[in-house]
Amino acid sequence: MRPRLSVAAGVLALAVAAAPALSTDGADDAIEAELALGATLFATVGCAGCHGAAGEGAGIAPALAGNAFTVSPGNVAAQILEGDGAMPPFGRALDDAAIAAIVNFVRLGLNGHADLIDAGFVAIIRGG
Ligand code: HEC
Repeated sequence: MRPRLSVAAGVLALAVAAAPALSTDGADDAIEAELALGATLFATVGCAGCHGAAGEGAGIAPALAGNAFTVSPGNVAAQILEGDGAMPPFGRALDDAAIAAIVNFVRLGLNGHADLIDAGFVAIIRGG
């Protein structure tokens, strides 16, 4: 693990522990890289500041770990793009690939939903 990912590694370690569907044998490097990117973005763009470093929730920001809302990737992508209530929108600040990585981290890393989405999926939600 490269040093710049050390913060993400801590979050990812928690995520791995919480996600039985995630392979930890290194067989799928692409998935691990996507989750590491998503974890880094989650920690740095503001999600963790409101929802907690491991998505455990804090104050009015609901827990994202073990949250049934995350079953739908479209709902999670739309929430990040548009915000809602006290949550600001991130659609202008983040491109589709970055949002996809965050969606994948929240869904797989924090909730064990193994069906990953990509930037093209986010573009459709953004356009819709
Ligand atoms: C300023 C605080 C704040 C930030 C930053 C923030 N959120 Fe939220 N988020 C909230 C609040 C408050 C809610 C619940 C209010 C609502 O949805 O109307 C929420 C709701 C959500 C929900 C829906 C949960 C549910 O059960 O309905 C998801 C998913 C989510 N946030 C993900 C994220 C992600 C991913 C990021 C980073 C890109 C992020 N949030 C950044 C405060 C924040």
